[in-house]
Amino acid sequence: MIALSAERVPLAKAKADVIAVLVVENAETDAEAFRRQRTGLERIFESVKPGLNAEVFAGRFQETLTLFPTETNAKLLLVGLGRSEKLTMERLRRVAATAAKTAVGMKAKTLAIASPDARMLSNTTFADDSEAIGAALAEGAVLSVYKFGKYITDAEKRNTSLRRVHIVCSDGASLAALQRGTERARVVCEATYLARDLANAPPNEIYPATLAQRAKATGRRFGFSVKVLDEQGIRKAKMGGVLAVAKGSEQPPRFIIMEYRPRRRRRTRIVLVGKGVTFDAGGISIKPAGGMSEMKMDMAGAAAVIAAMSVAAPWKLPHHIIGLVPAVENLLGGAAMKPGDVITHLNGKTSEVDNTDAEGRLILADALAFAARYEPDVVIDLATLTGHVVVGLGHHATGMMGNDQEVMDALREAGERTYERVWHLPMFEEYEKQIKSDIADVKNSGGRPAGAITAALFLKRFIGRYRWVHLDIAGTAILNESLDYIPKGASGVGVRLLAEFLRTWEHSEHFRS
Ligand code: BES
Ligand code: MN
Ligand code: ZN
Repeated sequence: MIALSAERVPLAKAKADVIAVLVVENAETDAEAFRRQRTGLERIFESVKPGLNAEVFAGRFQETLTLFPTETNAKLLLVGLGRSEKLTMERLRRVAATAAKTAVGMKAKTLAIASPDARMLSNTTFADDSEAIGAALAEGAVLSVYKFGKYITDAEKRNTSLRRVHIVCSDGASLAALQRGTERARVVCEATYLARDLANAPPNEIYPATLAQRAKATGRRFGFSVKVLDEQGIRKAKMGGVLAVAKGSEQPPRFIIMEYRPRRRRRTRIVLVGKGVTFDAGGISIKPAGGMSEMKMDMAGAAAVIAAMSVAAPWKLPHHIIGLVPAVENLLGGAAMKPGDVITHLNGKTSEVDNTDAEGRLILADALAFAARYEPDVVIDLATLTGHVVVGLGHHATGMMGNDQEVMDALREAGERTYERVWHLPMFEEYEKQIKSDIADVKNSGGRPAGAITAALFLKRFIGRYRWVHLDIAGTAILNESLDYIPKGASGVGVRLLAEFLRTWEHSEHFRS
């Protein structure tokens, strides 16, 4: 990943190919702020000021202007923050993304971003939160220039040019706070890169066995333990759903168990569950050919859970955290499960396979039942579970369902802060009849109406006595169009959300253990 640091140097002396200065639109404050910033760039601004009127550059949101001052070798990039009263943490991320992508466009290796002077932000609610500002700038810059270049053989095109981003401390800000923010961002950006890499990887690279290997390597590197059940172990554990889905593939399933224990006494025990379908062809209820390659990302939930585990030790989180990933391929070999099959899951409950393409819930059923063994306080599952949630919420909100309002509230707030937003959908009992089976305890498909909800209701049949939240990330994990700091493909959604939830849960007003 790109190196990240925060430092206090006069801007003109920042060692960078591009120096980005963020400028608010409100002109009065603007001129004031520049004068006060004592960046060492005053002379430069003096010399360009005659030409620098609102027609050339007004500081509108994400507007850019590149200057080539003779005083320094660096290019000077002005990026508009928009009107100060409209400024948010998300806008800071997006502006930092503009800076980073513009710098990459100029083939820059190093980028310095001047953290906006607190007084420039005085109209906003976060004027004195240098830590959050540092984190937002770092996240926006680093996440925006992610590239899955591994399989591109031309070295020029394989990587982005950018090697390092400095967040440069302005006069008003606290360097220590800014450093805490960039360090926090460094950890979570690295995790997001990992999740994106895993989900973007082709399905001939990532299948259950290799996903498990990657989880192990991640655990060794970031300080959590990993145990993997192979097919035999899965059979012994009576995970009927995992076995049923795996039968259609030559690739045997894996069940990945990750565990992080805090050094201090634990606050709560939290289990994270991620859907790990490394390729979803739909099985016998086969999917249409168009766009099927997207289904290599049907393990995005698993990727988010593996990646979220990796922030626990670096952040010294106070919780006992367990990550569970059932990993399978959903194909249609001769031994594949068939519509009509009945499966007995780990907890003894049975399900009727109405549609083999509703495979995610079959493997999650076993994992959620398995989670009860840990007597967890909270269980959160992430799954690219339904196309229905994409129809309902598109690509900008994750569908959230669950049995505990407090945990859902905490997740909603973490979602607003990280902008990985979640939206609560109801689990009214009236929907239950859609998944009623005539011959088994439950049926794995509830038809088209409220498909995301009936999927959650299916999962609910398999949970234990714990507080549970289900996140359907089908729309937010897989993007066919780039956003400002999320390139198209695998977004890595869930990583920042889970990390933020885990980081703040014990201090949240919703917390009870
Ligand atoms: N992995 C898919 C859901 C999905 C669709 C994820 C689009 C990402 C983008 C899931 O396994 C699936 O096929 N779900 C079915 C369920 C149905 C058969 C009840 C669906 O949503 O159509
Ligand atoms: Mn499917
Ligand atoms: Zn699937």
